[in-house]
Amino acid sequence: MDDEKPFLFTIIPGGMIKHSWAFLLLIFTVITVFTLQVTTKTFSPAWRSLDKSGTNDPADKPTCSGFFRPVPPRGLVFSITDFGGVGDGETPNTEAFRKAVEHANRFENRGGSQLNVPKGVWVTGSFNLTSNFTLFLEDGAVIMGSQDPEDWPIIEPLPSYGRGRERLGGRHISLIHGNGLSNVVITGDNGTIDGQGQMWWDQWWKRTLKHTRGHLVELMNSNNIMISNLTFRNSPFWTIHPVYCSNVLVKNMTILAPLNAPNTDGIDPDSSKSVCIEDCYIESGDDLVAVKSGWDQYGIRIARPSSNIIVRRVSGTTPTCSGVGIGSEMSGGIFNITIEDIHVRDSAAGVRIKADVGRGGYIANISIANVTLERVKIPIKFSRGANDHPDGGWDPKAVPRVKGIYITNVVSMNSSKAPVLLGIKDAPYEGICLKDISILGLTSSATWHCEYVSGFTSRVYPPACPQLVTNLGSSSRCSVT
Ligand SMILES: *[C@@H]1O[C@H](CO)[C@@H](O)[C@H](O)[C@H]1NC(C)=O
Ligand SMILES: *[C@@H]1O[C@H](CO)[C@@H](O)[C@H](O)[C@H]1NC(C)=O
Ligand SMILES: *[C@@H]1O[C@H](CO)[C@@H](O)[C@H](O)[C@H]1NC(C)=O
Ligand SMILES: *[C@@H]1O[C@H](CO)[C@@H](O)[C@H](O)[C@H]1NC(C)=O
Ligand SMILES: *[C@@H]1O[C@H](CO)[C@@H](O)[C@H](O)[C@H]1NC(C)=O
Ligand SMILES: *[C@@H]1O[C@H](CO)[C@@H](O)[C@H](O)[C@H]1NC(C)=O
Ligand SMILES: *[C@@H]1O[C@H](CO)[C@@H](O)[C@H](O)[C@H]1NC(C)=O
Ligand SMILES: *[C@@H]1O[C@H](CO)[C@@H](O)[C@H](O)[C@H]1NC(C)=O
Ligand SMILES: *[C@@H]1O[C@H](CO)[C@@H](O)[C@H](O)[C@H]1NC(C)=O
Repeated sequence: MDDEKPFLFTIIPGGMIKHSWAFLLLIFTVITVFTLQVTTKTFSPAWRSLDKSGTNDPADKPTCSGFFRPVPPRGLVFSITDFGGVGDGETPNTEAFRKAVEHANRFENRGGSQLNVPKGVWVTGSFNLTSNFTLFLEDGAVIMGSQDPEDWPIIEPLPSYGRGRERLGGRHISLIHGNGLSNVVITGDNGTIDGQGQMWWDQWWKRTLKHTRGHLVELMNSNNIMISNLTFRNSPFWTIHPVYCSNVLVKNMTILAPLNAPNTDGIDPDSSKSVCIEDCYIESGDDLVAVKSGWDQYGIRIARPSSNIIVRRVSGTTPTCSGVGIGSEMSGGIFNITIEDIHVRDSAAGVRIKADVGRGGYIANISIANVTLERVKIPIKFSRGANDHPDGGWDPKAVPRVKGIYITNVVSMNSSKAPVLLGIKDAPYEGICLKDISILGLTSSATWHCEYVSGFTSRVYPPACPQLVTNLGSSSRCSVT
């Protein structure tokens, strides 16, 4: 630690930055975090190491309580073995899971129920959940996605996408699916849900997919959902997809996919409100967390925004994508999003906002604070899409409106580029407020690249582009709350 401190302080020119105590504390925390992470060699996110070392009282940590209304103990508890399930890693259990849920369905309004999955490897095709229901994976329980594509039937596309995200028409259902549910918990004691996505990624690479790949877990039109304490692996496509949902809590999850597995996003809240994602470790081939709200003319028509979302204490890596992203599908609008205490390493981007002409919609009131980045190529990136539209029916006049992006306390080490902030011609991004940002490790010629953005900065290194006005005084126009 002592070796690293002078390194940090010598490369920040003292005249450029006036350190506040909070900022020094942040740097100190960052160093502590790195030291602990290097020595513990676990997947444990940084804050857990800090908890163990006693430097951070967990009682002080803000939590997502309030997002999920706790459910009373379930009246009926049964096991997948009661329905003929065999956890030998070979026997198909699709019928067992479907029968178990059918049974649970009868107890929806009679005290609810819990399905236990004991230690073992339980191969299954897709099955649906029901309301007032807990799926509980015991220690050593692994639910494995079937390798038969017919076990992932085709369902209707989402109305806010108008078609499958990858292929026209319907899409494969998720491995675990729910529609129109309430009070659902997916949890356990260190169990795993493994999508065995390789078969699907291979089809993507070979361009032989006939329909859009399925998610690992998708919940639609549902409320009061909790997903916690499990490991999700190898999703064919985005891993956790709450869409048209409210009051969703995702907590203490580990989400893993090979770093080159295409589109294996970690968690994608989509046209959903009151979602909290907390204490998760994610490594995958796409964004760790991406907030979305529908695609071009379809998303505009459905007009279901994503709002009141917190993403907190999330860490991980994604070599070709970003830590936390907004968009690119954002046509129903995205507002009031709080992203804090994020730790991203070895990734293409730290935080990214992505939109495009044709999207319409808006992105407003996004607060991003306390981000530490290690070896992330572009720490902060606003980008325009690459002609990614559902069909020829998109409206070139539908430009997204972006206003009020507050980013504070970012330390990026060994970055290779300064921030790239590209707004959209005829729809410049306004109210971009950046405070206490240190991008370290750049060559002296590295400069910010900005187009069609306006706003303010304070204590930013290297100095931002002229479109963002330096404002060292207190700015009411930029107050971050
Ligand atoms: C779930 O249980 C609650 C009581 O805890 C009940 O009010 C509600 O109607 C049940 N939901 C369904 C879909 O049956
Ligand atoms: C699961 O729910 C979807 C609708 O969301 C439905 O199309 C599908 O048939 C259901 N699957 C089973 C096995 O009930
Ligand atoms: C997180 O989940 C793991 C099981 O996956 C469990 O052992 C651990 O106690 C949980 N941590 C917290 C803080 O709940
Ligand atoms: C959780 O399960 C994994 C494998 O399923 C095992 O390697 C790990 O040690 C377990 N962790 C705990 C805390 O039991
Ligand atoms: C996670 O597991 C821990 C240890 O069993 C338990 O205390 C905690 O309540 C669980 N948390 C959630 C959100 O399921
Ligand atoms: C913003 O979202 C948070 C939850 O993330 C909520 O508590 C707060 O009331 C929302 N603010 C507004 C202005 O709606
Ligand atoms: C953003 O926040 C400002 C100030 O709190 C508020 O006036 C505005 O309505 C908010 N916009 C959205 C879309 O939430
Ligand atoms: C950011 O970190 C600082 C120092 O650790 C802490 O005082 C502050 O409360 C944090 N802010 C947020 C929004 O997490
Ligand atoms: C950053 O790069 C320097 C020199 O290349 C290296 O010594 C240092 O360990 C790196 N730090 C991190 C956090 O990767």
